[in-house]
Amino acid sequence: MKFGFQSKVAVVTGGAMGIGEATAITFSELGARVVVLDRDREKGARAAASLAGESGAGSFHWCDIESAESVQAAMDEAARQHGAIHVVAHCAGIQRYGDAITTSLDVWRETLGVNLDGCFHVVRSALPHMVAAGGGAIVVVGSVQTVAAVANSAAYVTAKHGLAGLVRSVALDFAGKNIRANCVMPGAIDTPMLRASINMGADPEAVRAACAATHPLGRIGRPEEVARAIAFLASDWASFITGTTLAVDGGMLIPAGGMAFQRGGTGSVAKQ
Ligand SMILES: NC(=O)c1ccc[n+]([C@@H]2O[C@H](COP(=O)([O-])OP(=O)(O)OC[C@H]3O[C@@H](n4cnc5c(N)ncnc54)[C@H](O)[C@@H]3O)[C@@H](O)[C@H]2O)c1
Repeated sequence: MKFGFQSKVAVVTGGAMGIGEATAITFSELGARVVVLDRDREKGARAAASLAGESGAGSFHWCDIESAESVQAAMDEAARQHGAIHVVAHCAGIQRYGDAITTSLDVWRETLGVNLDGCFHVVRSALPHMVAAGGGAIVVVGSVQTVAAVANSAAYVTAKHGLAGLVRSVALDFAGKNIRANCVMPGAIDTPMLRASINMGADPEAVRAACAATHPLGRIGRPEEVARAIAFLASDWASFITGTTLAVDGGMLIPAGGMAFQRGGTGSVAKQ
């Protein structure tokens, strides 16, 4: 079986930047017709246009994934324009900080609204088109924070945990319709989102170095490294994989107690 997406229509949310942009490029290189959904009109349209030469014209459709109506309209228009939707890579998301006291209600609602409700809007509007197409695959971008927590990120952690539940529900409920759903869990990936977070620190270079050091592979990941995992899970090569979470994290979730404990704790004492 050849690996690729020839004659498939792949919708990528958040395709204007970062992991989504890399995913859109990867799908296009693998033969898909790529549809970009994003709230950034300028970058989204540019990303979609730059893919047109590779695999036939894709398209850009504006939406704010927090708004069910705008997602529905964008998804329906994409399906109408391209005749079907076979793959959805849901990459759009935002990062917000705060603990359970300092997170304002507005920030809580915005973070859950975009990161969790947004995913629901995307799968809910895409599924009827995928059923009509006879099946397909959904890949949702979670985070290592889908199964673990980073300090001062209560709303983000909660939303990312919720995605695993939604993915498992969709995988179970739509398996009989030949639709698979999976979740990738990136570690720190070099995107505009990560750079914005790093730049919030008093010493951004120190934050970047500390971030890199939390991964046993010793570095921050590249967007295309996540995109390739998304492409695999969305492809027919992953035909018996559904409802799962795949860490794409340079090993970040491995070390009990974190890398500092591995270097200085009991795991280090008997070394020659
Ligand atoms: N970068 C990382 O280190 C990292 C790590 C783990 C998980 N993630 C997750 O990966 C996904 C992509 O992150 P990224 O780093 O590429 O982010 P990014 O900020 O670089 O890109 C996010 C994209 O989503 C779009 N977007 C955001 N809110 C939207 C909305 N309401 N409606 C429509 N589009 C919207 C943005 O316009 C942008 O194109 C997110 O879900 C993020 O939580 C990122």
